[in-house]
Amino acid sequence: MNEKISTAALALFAGMAAIAQPAFADTELKVYISSQHQPQVWRQILDKYEAANPGTKVSIETGGNTSEAQAQYLNTIMSAKDSSLDVLILDVIRPAQFAAAGWTSPFAGKDMSVYLPAYAEANTVDGKVVALPAFADSMFLYYRKDLLEKHGIQPPKTWDELTAAVKKINGAENNPELQGLSFQGKAIEGAVCTFLLPYWSQGKSLVNNGKLTFDKDAAVKSLKLWKGFVDNGVAKKNIAEVATDDTRKEFQAGNAIFAVNWSYAWAQSQGKESAVAGKVGVARLPAIAGGEQATCLGGWEWGVSAYSTHQDEAKKLVEYLSSKDSSKFMAVNGSLLPTYPDLYKDADVLKAAPWFADALQVVETAKPRPVTPRYNEVSETVRTTVNAVLAGVMTPEDGAAQIEARLKRILR
Ligand code: GLC
Repeated sequence: MNEKISTAALALFAGMAAIAQPAFADTELKVYISSQHQPQVWRQILDKYEAANPGTKVSIETGGNTSEAQAQYLNTIMSAKDSSLDVLILDVIRPAQFAAAGWTSPFAGKDMSVYLPAYAEANTVDGKVVALPAFADSMFLYYRKDLLEKHGIQPPKTWDELTAAVKKINGAENNPELQGLSFQGKAIEGAVCTFLLPYWSQGKSLVNNGKLTFDKDAAVKSLKLWKGFVDNGVAKKNIAEVATDDTRKEFQAGNAIFAVNWSYAWAQSQGKESAVAGKVGVARLPAIAGGEQATCLGGWEWGVSAYSTHQDEAKKLVEYLSSKDSSKFMAVNGSLLPTYPDLYKDADVLKAAPWFADALQVVETAKPRPVTPRYNEVSETVRTTVNAVLAGVMTPEDGAAQIEARLKRILR
């Protein structure tokens, strides 16, 4: 582009874009990215792509700060067969649903064996590759390394140990701002994982081969664990209002000893605006006493909108966004977990996020949320119930009974 073009002329160009292809670009692609997942870092990758592909211009659209808010937005766009978005980032729980709705275009002849198996699987629907992995994810326990060391405490392996650690540290620190544990209690997608962590830890599954395998006692125990944290002061009273990025902010401000969060929170916790840079440890999530340490499989995928009028260009861009180079760049600069197994041993990646060295095993053993075309209803049932129990408007027993009754109808 001619650098001397005035701002007014640029504004005119922008205005004309709706009616004519601007002279400076052959193809304009629009990529939808979740606002939580480092759009500014993806932008740097897109800048490299534009430099290597003159004639292609890529812009970013962000929206919604939680997975289900983003899904709602995309549902509206896609239901209207809107062609304005070419490439979509999708939570790992959604490619199957989007493919079933005919909203994404399949990739032909793609070798998925280069990626971690969980993502090859999540993106393959009825034998077709419907999206390509953007980044891997799991829930972890973030902790204040400095405070644990100061009080001679090892990272907890059970929730009871975590409770004891909080009591000890809070008793000595006497800081009313310092929460014991921040986790997601708001009725968001993350609260589905909140429920499942202690449930799975008891060795139970929710759905097996599409059939409900609900264990009510394990569900009561899970809900009681979280509500117990509110009642005994380990978590704050209004935890029912806390979404994922609130947890990230509270921990980063130095206001929580422990936090349940995904990998993206690491980069910001080490950044210039963090009160805890250099003081953070990341470990596996604790287990219910006598149970196993379980975590929730997360991750995001790149799909090409079936309504994009630039199918080939959009697919070429997605191949790039899903490449090993891009995965490494996002790991180093945005602490998003790699989708390529060998990057977990990469020296640059480990320099930026040393704990990734132990994260591969966690991702590989993370449990997926149920795969069903009716996942939205499953999610809504679980997350609204978790929220009601934490808000104190429903008992854990009634909550478990409600989840069971509703899931029975949904997964009949
Ligand atoms: C993270 C995970 C995603 C999950 C979401 C829930 O973004 O990667 O899979 O659904 O958190 O809040």
